[in-house]
Parts: sequence; structure tokens; C-alpha cells
Amino acid sequence: MSLTPAFLDELRARTLLSALIGKTVKLTKAGREFKGCCPFHNEKTPSFYVNDDKSFYHCFGCSAHGDAIRWMTEQQGLPFIDAVKELAQAAGMEMPAQDRQSVERAERAKGLHDLMADAAQFFTDQLNGIAGAEARAVLERRGIKAETARAFGMGYSPDSRGKLREELKSYGDPALIESGMLIKVDDKEPYDRFRGRLMIPIRDARGRVIAFGGRVIGQGEPKYLNSPDTPLFDKGRTLYNLDRAAPASRKSSRIIVVEGYMDVIALAQAGFGEAVAPLGTALTEHQLERLWRLSDVPILCFDGDSAGQKAAIRAALRALPGLAPGRSLRFVTLPEGQDPDDLVRARGPAAFEALLEKPESLVDRLWAHEHAAEPLDTPEQRAGLKRRLMTHAEAIADPDVRHEYQAEFRRRVEDLFARPQRDFTPRQFTPRKPGAKWVPPLPPVTSQAKAVSAAGKIDRLLAKAVLAGLIRHPTEIARHMEVLGSLKLADGALGRLFEAVVDLALEDRALDSQRLITILGSSGLGQITTDLLRADATPYSFTQDGAEPERASADLDEAIAIMVARPEVDAALAQATSELEMSTSDEAFQRQMELLREQRALELRLANLIQANNDA
Ligand code: UTP
Ligand code: MN
Repeated sequence: MSLTPAFLDELRARTLLSALIGKTVKLTKAGREFKGCCPFHNEKTPSFYVNDDKSFYHCFGCSAHGDAIRWMTEQQGLPFIDAVKELAQAAGMEMPAQDRQSVERAERAKGLHDLMADAAQFFTDQLNGIAGAEARAVLERRGIKAETARAFGMGYSPDSRGKLREELKSYGDPALIESGMLIKVDDKEPYDRFRGRLMIPIRDARGRVIAFGGRVIGQGEPKYLNSPDTPLFDKGRTLYNLDRAAPASRKSSRIIVVEGYMDVIALAQAGFGEAVAPLGTALTEHQLERLWRLSDVPILCFDGDSAGQKAAIRAALRALPGLAPGRSLRFVTLPEGQDPDDLVRARGPAAFEALLEKPESLVDRLWAHEHAAEPLDTPEQRAGLKRRLMTHAEAIADPDVRHEYQAEFRRRVEDLFARPQRDFTPRQFTPRKPGAKWVPPLPPVTSQAKAVSAAGKIDRLLAKAVLAGLIRHPTEIARHMEVLGSLKLADGALGRLFEAVVDLALEDRALDSQRLITILGSSGLGQITTDLLRADATPYSFTQDGAEPERASADLDEAIAIMVARPEVDAALAQATSELEMSTSDEAFQRQMELLREQRALELRLANLIQANNDA
């Protein structure tokens, strides 16, 4: 048992304050109170009152104020724990066993909490003051509204080694160092940890500031500087924004985990208040437990890049021991190179909501990961897959869930390795006639197919032509925002140009081609733009000067539709083909045929686009 508030209340109630104080100060009765000359300052006429009903003393002269414990610490000069002990003894109360240590920790923490609150206030004032102009501009550029910044207590740490130390000097260097706000090296002067950074206060579950993340303004390393672990702050036990997300998650019945502070903040602004983030480290068991208290199946929403996907798998594995009937994780994979902040900014809340509606289950995530991890050509490799999956299942503590996983993995492995019966010859399919009306039956691409197929790459040539078309006809961009934003375009220069073009067009819907080219030029993308436009020997209407606008627009629509559909069909086809190798069924065969037809149809559509233009 430790010193609970209830124990301290009991202690106060059992202590007759006037008797306690009366030992040192001469008190006289005054109505329902006692009064005397204040022991905290020099006075001739009494302005010091003791109220037994309310268990406190108050001086109207110097504002000294407190209860019995405070009296013992302030007036008698005892450490908190000794004050409590002495009062408890006098009141005939048994001190809870344990411990001086935890009391001291609690007392110290209380001081640190005040310190952190004051630090946060200082940073906020700085952000709103002259020094904060640059940081405010950063927020504005990122589309963070002032009210959002206020709600999250964002601030700015001035670019100085001593401003914070000076501002909070009443706490003393030792406390400032312990709180992580000052850095001390050897016996040099301590100095401010956070300098010239956008400050994001990290709050505990009760909303108290316990640490900070500081983002560099502009470029620089490290991008984020975080408070070290302190008596208040334990990285592995904290989730950023938990205090605000918890009530929001009760309303929406879900909790979303994202990777970064700014993601949480941007999502909140976009209407998703139920988002939290770990603090730059892998999710710990403790964090998972906290999440499960808010929702049975938290949604982990990580980047599509390899770091994000590794983090997702690590979380999946760590969750296994804690699974229970109905209790799991779900996974949403973002388009590569886009975090939730980018996504809601570029494509709006609806695009994010759409992703949340199609999460991948934990079992699918693990399966896809292990299935793709190693080749499966030899019996040893296949046994390896089985072993890895079974090891994961064995990590599940709950017996019912464990059995379900074992059975599920066994079924999937059997399906996968069942001997293919190659007793058929693929029939020839008849390509659609050119010009025939195309029915757009885009098949749902399964998460497995997505995993199998990094093969589903955008056709670079077609992408170049489309990009050249967009630069020539920027007003078309707005109509295609949805698809353009989600394209996993080639990385490298082409990708950057693509992004820049889309961003510019978003900013200014009335942008014309010439101005777009000028702006691209001034942002260092001039050469690649020129190359791209020069290369449009590509025979599409939209890549040529003097094309009829309606015609160019219609053809551009068609080209974009093809560009988007092709990798999806390719991926689905790769998946269907690999399934067919494992086990043949009429259904799988039909599906493969259908996809082949679709692939061919897309090729024809593209050919038509070029053909039609040559004819014209
Ligand atoms: P990101 O680099 O994805 O940050 O790191 P972000 O939130 O999207 O930031 P912006 O949009 O570039 O401003 C994700 C998280 O990893 C931790 C932080 O918690 C960050 O929010 N991190 C990242 C660090 O702790 N230190 C770093 O240097 C970088
Ligand atoms: Mn970001």
C-alpha cells in the first residue's frame, strides 16, 4: 500500500489544526476560527487565521496558506514524508507499509509537472511572439490552423542556450536537468535542450505535459529532438495524444495508431480525433495494452515504405501474446511515400476514411508477410514457411485463439501447396474488337495480390506522356485528383515532378500551362520539364500543340484510366497465376482468363488512343 489521497485526507481530518499550530503560535478564538500573529511574516496585529472545519490556515497579510502537512513542511521545515509520519503518529494512524521512496517520488513529480506546464506556456508565448514568426509560417504552410495549434499546445523554443533556463530559474538547475529541459555536460554550464524548434508537448493520459518533441524548422538533423526519459516520461509507456484520443475513440468506436506527431495533429484537424502515435519507437506491449482498453481491434496505419511495413510486422508479432477472443489488430497500409498528414492534405478526409474501411486483418498480415519472405520452391522452404507460421501461432497465449490460428495457417498452407493438377491446356482467348465498348470490371485486388506484386508498376512511358499532358492542360488535374494522388508513381525525378505539378495545380486551380512551366523552372525542375515536353513525340492528342481541348481532355481521361488500371490488373493477374500454380480450380482458371482478357483490353484501348490520333 502506498500513500493514497484517501490516506492523506483521513490524516488531515484526524488532525486538529488549531491544536497543532497552537503549539507554536498563540491563537485566540475568533468566531468559528482562531487567529494569531502570522509566523510567516512579521506583524503586530493578527491577520493569521486557522479554520478547523476546513482544515486550513490562511494569512491575509502575506497569503501564506496550507493544511496540516503544509504546516509541517513549511513552518517546521520537515520533508514531506517525515511530516506525514509525524502527523500520522500523533493521530494514531498506522503509516502504510512501503514507503518513503514512492512518496518522495510523488512529491518530486508534482514539482516537475508544474515545471513542464510552465515550460509549455513559455514555448506557446514564444510561438505567438516576435520570435515565433518563422514557426508560425511553418504551421501555416502545413495547413495547421491556429486553433489546432492551440488545442495541441504547440509552441516555439527560441534559438538560445539560456532563455528557458532563465525563464524557469525558480525551479533550479537540478530540477530543470531532471525534467530533461536542460542539458548538462560534465561541469559546464547547463543549457537549454530545445533551441529554435517547433515544440509539441507530449501529454500523459491525464492531459499533463510530461515531455516535448521539438521539430527542426526547415531542414536539419535530427528532424525531431525528444525529451529523454525522466521521472515523468517513459517513452515505452506513453502514447502521444492518448488523453484526447480516448474520449474521441469512445464516440467513433475505434482507435487509430499512426507514426508521427504531425499525423496525429493533421488527422485531428481533419476530424479524426481518435488517433495516437508511439514516440518514434516500435509499439511496446504496454502501449498495446493501453490501446486494447480503448478498442478491441485498434487500427495500425503505417507507411507503405519498408520502414513502415517493418513496424507493422513488429507490432503484429508483439500483439500475439495478448490476443484474446475478439481482441486483435487491424492494418491499413498507406500509399508509399504518403503519411496520413500528406494524405488528408492532398486528398481530404474521405480518402483516409476510405482506407480505414478496408483494413487488413492480423492473420492476413502475418500470412502475407511470411508468404513473401522466402521462396517456396523446395520442400525445405515450404516446411520453413509452415514452421514460421506455427511459431507465430504458438506465441498466442489464449488457447482458443491459438488453436484457431494454428488451424487457419494449416488450411492456408495446405491450399497453397496442394498439388496442382495440370490437366488442362489454356484456351486461347479472343481479344475484344478494337472500338468495342469496354466494360470496366476492375476486380478487387486482394491484399495478398498487392503483396505478391510489386510487379504492378506504372508504365513509365505512359506516365511521362500523361505528365506532359497535364503540364500542357493543367486545368485537367483537378478532375483527376483522386487517382493522381494515390498513384504509386516511380520514385526519382519523374515522381518529384509529378508531385510538384499536382501540388501546384492544387494551390491554384486557374493555373495556366505557361505559368506552371515557369514555376517548375524556378523550383529547380526546369530541365526535366523541358526534356519531358520535348520528348513528346509521343503520339497522343494531349501531348501535342494545338490539339482540340475537348479531344485532349477526353483522351487524357482515357490515358489516365489505363495508366491506373494496368498495374492493378497486372497485380491481380500475377496473383491469380501463382494461385493457379498451387491448386487448380475452375474458378481460379476462369479468373485468370478474365484477367488476361482485361489486360489485353487495356492494351487495345491504349493502341486505339494512339491510332485514333494518327488517323486524325
Ligand atoms: P516522421 O519523419 O514520419 O515524422 O517520423 P512526421 O510526424 O511525419 O513529421 P513531418 O511531417 O516530417 O514534420 C515519425 C515519428 O518518428 C519520430 C517522431 O515521433 C515522429 O513523429 N521521430 C522521427 C523522431 O523521434 N526523431 C526523428 O528524427 C524523426
Ligand atoms: Mn509527415
